[in-house]
Amino acid sequence: MRTVRTFAEARALGSGCVGLVPTMGYLHEGHISLVDAARRESDTVTVSLFVNPLQFGPTEDLGSYPRNFERDAEMVAAAGADILFAPQLAEMYPRDPLTTVTVAHVTEGMEGGIRPGHFDGVATVVTKLFAGLAPDRSYFGRKDAQQLVTVRRMSADLSFPTVIVGAPIVRESDGLALSSRNTYLDAAERIAAGSINRGIAAVADAVLAGERSGRQLERIAAAPVNEEPGIELDYATLANQDTASSLTDLDRPAFLAIAARVGRTRLLDNVHIDRTDAGWVPDVGIRLEGPSILYREA
Ligand code: PAF
Repeated sequence: MRTVRTFAEARALGSGCVGLVPTMGYLHEGHISLVDAARRESDTVTVSLFVNPLQFGPTEDLGSYPRNFERDAEMVAAAGADILFAPQLAEMYPRDPLTTVTVAHVTEGMEGGIRPGHFDGVATVVTKLFAGLAPDRSYFGRKDAQQLVTVRRMSADLSFPTVIVGAPIVRESDGLALSSRNTYLDAAERIAAGSINRGIAAVADAVLAGERSGRQLERIAAAPVNEEPGIELDYATLANQDTASSLTDLDRPAFLAIAARVGRTRLLDNVHIDRTDAGWVPDVGIRLEGPSILYREA
């Protein structure tokens, strides 16, 4: 694997079908599942590692976001990537950008309502990655469901030829969706956070039992979180997979998203729900059997 710092070097090394996995580092099995998918479907696998200041609000955790370059580089190499693209700030933003990307409507509810400017930051950096690296395919986790909707829409609107692939959520052995921010949780917070997964599992059961009302599914999702001390629900919303707008009924591909605060940590989770020949099928993702590599140092 080659580690490079500039767009030009990364582009020059790529050949055939280039699969890009954009990350902000502090990798876990969710990221590795994206590298695995890229490895199966691409000739060159590029992982980008850049903690993007543009997507953090002024009171958010940019300064304390977990970082460990050696650890990430080892993991990316072991996962079989060809290129680690780790630009410095000056490569990504040589000057304060006068051009940014706003994806209207799909970014207005849920996370967009709570984190103003967040999705502009995400859409801008992903646009720059697509423009600078010209990937044929790019891989994103479904845990950040509204981000996935935003990137799909941005890519289509700006005519990028890149195929956007969404991959299932990977969960820790207790069901908590993997996130680099899980490292912030202490033991008590971890117990409180468990209520999110109980909400997700209850929604999956309710869908399988025939529940189709959006408000009822949201109540089912919210109940375990509202009953648990030490955790504050931001929202539980049934949303359209194409537009991220709220749905009254489960009548098209959807996701039920939960966002909650535990101490200083915001946690997101969701269950994707698709219509198949067998009816509406919830997908809660994959659960690890043992401890996550998230807690492994370099
Ligand atoms: O999901 C993330 O880690 C980030 O939002 C992304 C897509 C790498 C853009 O900075």
